Amino acid sequence: GGLGLAAWSTAYFADLIINDDLDSIPDRFRTRLPESKRDDRPRVVILGTGWASLTFLRKLHTDEFNVTIVSPRNYFLFTPLLVGGTTGTLEVRSIIEPVRKYCQRADANEATFIEAECVSVDPKKKTIKCVDNSAIKGEVSEFELEYDHLIVGVGADNQTFGIPGVRENSCFLKEINDTRVIRDRILDCLETASYPGQPEKEIDRLLNFVVVGGGPSGVEFTAELKDFLHSDLLRTYPLAKRINVTLVEALPHILNVFDKKIVDHVEKRLQETSNFKILTKTAVTNVREKEITVRNDQKVESQIPYGLLVWATGNTPRKITTQIGQSIGTNIQNNRRGLIVDEYFRVVGAEGIWAIGDACIDPQKPLAQTAQVANQQARYLGRLFNHLAEDIYRQKVDDKPEVVPITPQQQQTLVIHPKHAELQQTFDNILKKQPLFKYHHMGTLAYVGDHQAVAEFKGDTSTTTFEGYVTYYLWRSVYFSKLLSLKNRVLVAFDWTKSTIFGRDVSRG
Ligand code: NAI
Repeated sequence: GGLGLAAWSTAYFADLIINDDLDSIPDRFRTRLPESKRDDRPRVVILGTGWASLTFLRKLHTDEFNVTIVSPRNYFLFTPLLVGGTTGTLEVRSIIEPVRKYCQRADANEATFIEAECVSVDPKKKTIKCVDNSAIKGEVSEFELEYDHLIVGVGADNQTFGIPGVRENSCFLKEINDTRVIRDRILDCLETASYPGQPEKEIDRLLNFVVVGGGPSGVEFTAELKDFLHSDLLRTYPLAKRINVTLVEALPHILNVFDKKIVDHVEKRLQETSNFKILTKTAVTNVREKEITVRNDQKVESQIPYGLLVWATGNTPRKITTQIGQSIGTNIQNNRRGLIVDEYFRVVGAEGIWAIGDACIDPQKPLAQTAQVANQQARYLGRLFNHLAEDIYRQKVDDKPEVVPITPQQQQTLVIHPKHAELQQTFDNILKKQPLFKYHHMGTLAYVGDHQAVAEFKGDTSTTTFEGYVTYYLWRSVYFSKLLSLKNRVLVAFDWTKSTIFGRDVSRG
């Protein structure tokens, strides 16, 4: 409890200080824009409800803008704890938050949420096209929206490298439903393997679980699986002792961005028991319904039969991110990781489009695609918009702007929207007065199973690493403190207590 409180308060105040948040007035202490003056507010459309978009929305003074959020899912998912849902360490409902709750400010709905998928953006007309991709469709199932500012915070998709059969046959580790599918399949494999007369070879296949990708996602999932097996499955299923787990990694080591000391520690821990092994220097090249083809560094190919295949080989841009890039022009937007942004997160080559989180890349200062980065970028951009509102939109252009000419190069690429064209120069001037975004790395934490975690804190010249039980409590405390609401904290605490005392539930459904 003490450690939790200390971690919580340190993280909270460190966050305030490093993000320069102390100078911004919290929303509840501000004088809100009166209703009578709200007609001509700039239209801000936010795409997505993940870390980037929701943090931006929470930071934004929503009375100053006409805000619409468009996303195919009406909830925010606390991704750092997602992997616990694959085995029932916690229930995924405990780590989601309804987005509509964050549309309300001062007891009124100040932002509009629309559950839809944005399928295209027209940067010249400044419009987006959206469709309903849910099961229930009404007479209207597609619509267009106009924007003055579009915030692209759509995250990223699962990377498959175009390897045949991946999408059809494997489970991913990104969305809520992925955790349900994985949990169900683990138990289904065990139940099916237990059929009377099931051939020995088929039992071996069904109980061979393969995880592809030795990044933090693949490693944390393998660790959860190890806990599930040792604490719960072995007690319940006689056949569970025949489960084999293989973590396949193309590079010579797992956790490539981590310090060597951590890598050695985790590799050793994960392979402590004979039924867990790490296959490095091995790439998956083909996936079929019941087996995968792998190729080692000697270019020798072999087949591995599996019952469960979990795919965690990193991120790739979403379709909408690629479409936005293409509509701006592939001569300008030519980065394979996401939309190229400038130092203020303006998408290069389009006026009024901003991108944050996994969907963006600043080629001058590329950052990892993590929740921590998305969170800091979104807070910065939210604060920037609040300043723009204070300095421009509240005063309009009555006060004489200090004119700083924009470069001819910028002039060429910017498509000025008529409605706010006159604001453009003031806008650029205000931006130039803002401090630039600076990412503060608070460290990396990962769960490695059996009540142990690893932590890495990188300084400019040295790296400090921690591993073991105390780090595990730090890991839990930090994530616990980062959960967005008291409700989620209560639910997560309850889930953790429940699974510790009674074990994880092994019923399907
Ligand atoms: P990743 O990109 O970090 O790792 C993917 C791994 O898959 C790489 O090591 C790559 O060599 C391997 N790989 C690629 N193709 C392969 C193939 N065909 N066969 C075998 N191996 C192959 O991806 P991950 O783990 O999904 O993480 C995505 C992002 O989220 C990263 O930025 C990561 O740092 C972050 N993350 C951070 C966590 C934490 O801090 N605890 C937890 C989960 C994710």
